[in-house]
Amino acid sequence: MTRLARLRKRTSSGLALAVALVAVGIGYSFAAPSSSAQDTGLSVEAMAGQEIYENSCITCHGANLQGVEEQGPSLIGVGEASVYFQVATGRMPLAQHEAQAQRKTPVYDDAEVNQLMAYIQTYGGGPELPAEEDLRDGELAEGGELFRLNCASCHNFAGSGGALSSGKNAPSLNQSSDLDIYTAMLSGPQNMPVFGDNQLTPENKRAIINYVQTLNETADPGGLSIGRAGPVPEGLIIWVVGIAGCVIACFWVGTRS
Ligand code: HEC
Ligand code: HEC
Repeated sequence: MTRLARLRKRTSSGLALAVALVAVGIGYSFAAPSSSAQDTGLSVEAMAGQEIYENSCITCHGANLQGVEEQGPSLIGVGEASVYFQVATGRMPLAQHEAQAQRKTPVYDDAEVNQLMAYIQTYGGGPELPAEEDLRDGELAEGGELFRLNCASCHNFAGSGGALSSGKNAPSLNQSSDLDIYTAMLSGPQNMPVFGDNQLTPENKRAIINYVQTLNETADPGGLSIGRAGPVPEGLIIWVVGIAGCVIACFWVGTRS
């Protein structure tokens, strides 16, 4: 083969290759589904979340998270804190429409919860998870004070929960993880108010968590095991014991002199 012939052959096969590539490209753009990953620009994590969402959330929350009447609310802008709270405490996915979603063994593991959070967060961000690792480093006494002011009316002084007038109930907090408590405050599920960072600073929240978990660990929030009867009988016991102590001390001093 002459030099020229070889060159001509090479260009023509190059040309054929280019034509073939363009043809494949055009063919692909027709064949590919319109909502391919390239179009949506989702991260790999969010795409995995989308898949879970489409399998087990879409019937109640809608194809674009807009909500479905009588089934489930819109999730647009609820933020990852709400998703974390609902999925990590096993409340979601809801099995069927119940009056109040209950805490259950979670269906999804941490990685899957992260994927769902990433996907739902792409629809507009609400409250995000706290950046700190240690969510219990707040001051205990301050936490107790804040808990009594903000939480005890529904969850009881001991965090053991209680009925609400609406026929619903505020659950016990004795199974809640630090992050469950944090995200509950950030997202305010159902009848619970949202405690944004204006109402309770992140430091306030960590103090409350420290207090709740201290209650949980001691399983007895003070009160000398007299049935957690509250400050009045506790005061009475201290009074009686204290007076008896004084009387004994007086006798002792008296007998010595
Ligand atoms: C059977 C219907 C149903 C299914 C399935 C379902 N949900 Fe829900 N979801 C609800 C209802 C009803 C509520 C409101 C619950 C409440 O107020 O207690 C809700 C509430 C939520 C909220 C709280 C919204 C807010 O305003 O803070 C989130 C987040 C959520 N769902 C996520 C999910 C995810 C993620 C899935 C899939 C893994 C899922 N849900 C599956 C019905 C459903
Ligand atoms: C007006 C009543 C009300 C107040 C006040 C309230 N909560 Fe709640 N809380 C609820 C209700 C109702 C639920 C259950 C929501 C659901 O099931 O979707 C709940 C759920 C929770 C949960 C989830 C428990 C679990 O693990 O299943 C935590 C944690 C929590 N609240 C913490 C707090 C803290 C901390 C405060 C104070 C800063 C507080 N709540 C104030 C009503 C209240």
